[in-house]
Amino acid sequence: MITLDTVNLEIEGPVATIYLNRPDKKNAMNPQMHRDMNEALDAIEAAEDVKAVVITGNGDSFSAGMDLEECFLRPYDDPQLFYRTNLVALKWFQRLKAFPAVTIAKVNGYAFGGGFEVTGLCDLAIAAEDVKFGLSEINFGIFPAGGASWAATHNLSRKQALYYILTGATMTGTEAERYGLVNKAVPAEELDAATEKLVGRIVNKNPVTLRLAKEVYERTTHLDLPEAIDYDQAKLWELARLTSNEWITVALKQFEKRSYRPGLDTYKRDVA
Ligand code: ACO
Repeated sequence: MITLDTVNLEIEGPVATIYLNRPDKKNAMNPQMHRDMNEALDAIEAAEDVKAVVITGNGDSFSAGMDLEECFLRPYDDPQLFYRTNLVALKWFQRLKAFPAVTIAKVNGYAFGGGFEVTGLCDLAIAAEDVKFGLSEINFGIFPAGGASWAATHNLSRKQALYYILTGATMTGTEAERYGLVNKAVPAEELDAATEKLVGRIVNKNPVTLRLAKEVYERTTHLDLPEAIDYDQAKLWELARLTSNEWITVALKQFEKRSYRPGLDTYKRDVA
């Protein structure tokens, strides 16, 4: 366990877990937490063999968003400080979105503003059914920024995104599943088990394939079909080279021997 001021990081083999750790403040993200998150992501990247990163909150909440006092109120009269503080936050949000390992938000309690955003920036998300998500910015007179509007528009339909942006209403975990912000909502007492199950489905995959699968998804969403095909074919050759053709020499060989069914299961990476 790596203990930073406001974040704890646990790396166990292919799984890293980041615990936001200001439970008394509902894990509101203060400037120190933004610095710590960059440090945690550095440490995970340095570990190299991490396939899944789970982000969760200690205590009864995922995160009540930006620390409204430490990030906004106090530095407001010092524009340089305000700007620098903001940049550190924006840096890790963007790193999270582009992170090479699979990112999973495990959400309980409150997830407002930055907490909503982090959920939306992660590749996957599991929430307790009774979570309260919200884009509360409009409730104190601004609009969701720093990527929060982006997270809304890229996870929700136009009508739902605008509803939550314009009203500041809260969304339960169950609603978040229905609208696409999270993959699954479960009773709070099942959150750990559901997340572990999801992580289990990721970590038995080839890490290079996971990384390239994310890249191909992200890069092809805005391309027309011919360009998307050109890109994914190039990436397929890259994958073959980087994995010594594991998909042919191991996975499909196991299928040929009928030792597994690709439609229902993953090949065994350590068995020829
Ligand atoms: N920034 C700073 N401090 C916060 C934040 C926040 N975003 N959220 C909670 N806290 C603090 C509270 O001020 C309180 O501190 P105190 O013990 O020193 O008084 C402590 O965390 C516990 O919070 P309470 O308000 O006592 O808990 P309660 O359960 O009554 O309410 C709730 C929780 C609903 C999250 C409430 O604190 C709240 O509305 N917080 C603001 C949420 C928000 O709008 N976040 C900003 C999103 S926008 C963005 O991220 C850019």
